[in-house]
Amino acid sequence: MNIRDAVASRFSCRAFLPTPVPESTIRDILELSARAPSGSNLQPWFVHALAGERLAVLKKRIEPRYGDLPRGDGAGYEVFPGKLHEPYRTRRFDVGLQLYESLGIPYEDRDARLKQYARNLVFFDAPVALFFVIERSLNPAQWADLGMFVQTVMLAAREHGLHTCAQQAWVPWSKSVEDFLKLPPEQMLFCGMALGHADESASENRWRSPRAPLETWADFSGF
Ligand SMILES: Cc1cc2nc3c(=O)[nH]c(=O)nc-3n(C[C@H](O)[C@H](O)[C@H](O)COP(=O)(O)O)c2cc1C
Repeated sequence: MNIRDAVASRFSCRAFLPTPVPESTIRDILELSARAPSGSNLQPWFVHALAGERLAVLKKRIEPRYGDLPRGDGAGYEVFPGKLHEPYRTRRFDVGLQLYESLGIPYEDRDARLKQYARNLVFFDAPVALFFVIERSLNPAQWADLGMFVQTVMLAAREHGLHTCAQQAWVPWSKSVEDFLKLPPEQMLFCGMALGHADESASENRWRSPRAPLETWADFSGF
């Protein structure tokens, strides 16, 4: 697969088939992804890959608690600013609306929306879960490095015919995840990721999120 195809075919997959993914494939994806650049080559990433029984145990621990704790049990950081301003607010709202529309969930049906959101906590049934971890003491520049690494993982997965969904929905559950992974106190969760084979027939996988036109965010001069 060439880079253009990998980038163009990646999307946030929210329904997976149960088909297992071998550990060797995950190792290959991660090893390749570690070619991602990072400022001064700090390589500020740690990854925890879970599958099988270990993944089942985590899900069993979290999912039943979601109803009582829809806001999680201890967020590691604030994902979005408290008051998200334009154009970000509308973009966020619109992509949510499109997802729920694809599932036939009317926006007014808050219960159904929350139920769908809770699918994050079972990794949308993906056979593999990844958690991306960084040291607390590092700066925004290293978080950007980690972001590049995460994107490289998503693209490298495409080479194997696999799909992914990055998941900040795990951030409100940082405390539980960090306990479960037995992270040392100096480390914290950045995000989770579902990985596996896409269920192509699922309606939540059959739409694509929009992008702002190039002219609104790129400036060219001197060509
Ligand atoms: C760091 C990060 C965290 C995300 N967290 C979630 C999440 O928790 N749940 C979810 O369904 N999508 C999540 N997404 C997916 C975004 O909503 C998605 O990337 C965006 O709407 C663009 O759509 P696309 O990925 O299909 O192109 C996340 C994406 C990123 C990069």
